Amino acid sequence: MGMCGIFATTNDKNSAQTILSGLKKLEYRGYDSWGIAVKGRTRLRSQKQVGKISVSQTTLPQSNMGIGHTRWATHGGVTVANAHPHFDCSGKLALIHNGIVDNYQELEKKIKGHKLIGQTDSEIVAHLIEKELKTEKDLFRAVKKVVRMTEGFNAFVVMHQDFPYLVTAKTGSPVVIGIRPGANMLSSDVASLLSHTKQVIFLTDGQIAKVAPDKVRIENYSGVKKIKPVVQTIDWTAKSASKSGFPHFMLKEIYDQPAVLIKIVESKIKEVREFAKTISKAKNVFTVACGTASYAALAGQYLFSRLAGRQVTPAIGSEFYYNDGFINSRSLCIALSQSGETLDTLQSVKFAKDRGAKAVSLVNVQGSSLDRLSDQTVLLEAGPEKAVASTKAFLAKVAILLLTASALKRKTPRAVIEIKQAIRAIRKILSPDYQKYLKKLAERFKHSHSMFILGRGVSYPAALEAALKIKEVSYIHAEGFAAGELKHGVIALVNQNTPCLVFAPNDETYSDIISGAMEVKARGGIIIGVSFKPNPMFDYYLPVSDSGSGTILPNVVVAQCLAYYLAVARGLDPDMPRNLAKSVTVK
Ligand code: F6R
Repeated sequence: MGMCGIFATTNDKNSAQTILSGLKKLEYRGYDSWGIAVKGRTRLRSQKQVGKISVSQTTLPQSNMGIGHTRWATHGGVTVANAHPHFDCSGKLALIHNGIVDNYQELEKKIKGHKLIGQTDSEIVAHLIEKELKTEKDLFRAVKKVVRMTEGFNAFVVMHQDFPYLVTAKTGSPVVIGIRPGANMLSSDVASLLSHTKQVIFLTDGQIAKVAPDKVRIENYSGVKKIKPVVQTIDWTAKSASKSGFPHFMLKEIYDQPAVLIKIVESKIKEVREFAKTISKAKNVFTVACGTASYAALAGQYLFSRLAGRQVTPAIGSEFYYNDGFINSRSLCIALSQSGETLDTLQSVKFAKDRGAKAVSLVNVQGSSLDRLSDQTVLLEAGPEKAVASTKAFLAKVAILLLTASALKRKTPRAVIEIKQAIRAIRKILSPDYQKYLKKLAERFKHSHSMFILGRGVSYPAALEAALKIKEVSYIHAEGFAAGELKHGVIALVNQNTPCLVFAPNDETYSDIISGAMEVKARGGIIIGVSFKPNPMFDYYLPVSDSGSGTILPNVVVAQCLAYYLAVARGLDPDMPRNLAKSVTVK
């Protein structure tokens, strides 16, 4: 059922309330509709609604056990009937689901005569379990049989009025069990559990768990062998997952960035050197990532070439399979991901590993599928990223790639200095006067039809990332370009008053990028220069002090802030852009 959030309690005296707060923290995973079911004295009680959960209240009665879901639709429209939980014909069984059951049409044939209310693949699974329970009297075993029949990358949670436990299975999408003695819980992510517990068990693909208030039993759903659960302690704090007084998570996470970079230069050098060693042993190196993470990877390509003379081939997660020819046991696959759950990235890594390649991941979420799948992980340690638009994870990835490229040439100290310069430059951008100016610019350009962002060299991926941020949160059409490409076609789109953000750092690209800006200006475009020094070419000037190879970091921060203020100026919620979800766990 798409990319959704699941949250459940086994013994909480205010279960509906606790689930509602849990779902509010998971809303970034999907926010078109939501629902909760709790156990009543004699029957299940439920509430389902279309629309954002952040402003909603629950009307459900007190109960200890319950399951809840926030949805991002893939199968079936956004309606109350399609919102989860889904029920069987008896109304005693409730199911929530994350993912897509690929063979749902085939499975639907097995439940002829059952009464379906909505159009989702998930509801079919609830009825299949009902059917199975007619012969198999144990809920855990019945769910197990049905999960085996499903195809795709899913997570299921099932509750039944007559059974004192929940059943959850993972065939792809994340499931985290929160260990709270006497009151175990379930969620799609760690951050939503932090206010209750820091002890968690990550289910892995192929596992099914019976979660009772004080007991967890895990098995492989294809076998019968009991698996010893591995309980991990998470070192994030609940505060790091809250807005801390900021109006939006996006702004809070933009402001987290200096601290994220400080942590990297202070505590990651040893890990970075290990990572560099792995790279130097590989014959060919490629990166896989999606969206913002793929732009961090592209920046990596420029940095590895400039700082280490090392070729790294970037691929987008969904395109990776088409590079099959050169992936073998001497290849290294570097996967970059904030969530560690992006399906296209995960599948690319599996694909590379199947061909004998080694996999290293740069990932933010400890214990995520990507972390577990990789031979080596460099954790970003950026803390929970809740806004749908990725900000601090991008900076963390680029900083780690910059350090790693430098480590290949034993030049880490230089990179540390540059990142520290970048931190100072970011602090200036985050100062009240600078922010005021950015807000003013956003007011000035909030009705623009399109925007262009130009860069060359490592500022080219910065331009792509800036355009993505502006597009996804402000819905203004924005395009990032390698400035040299303009005259090969795109310049036809520039007309009177088209704003154009130009990255002009103190490097080998400076004079050429200024020429590119000139071409735009000559056609009526308005130039917003992001540079270490003013230039008569600029109609507006956003100063960013030189941080050598680290300048991409503050440059991107300028664009993040501008995107944020454009969204706010247009009356939009930057944390939850339309049509998007934080973890893209479907193809
Ligand atoms: C854009 C954004 C997405 C993600 C992409 C990959 O702001 O957040 O483009 O970067 O969906 O997600 P992760 O990094 O979790 O693999």
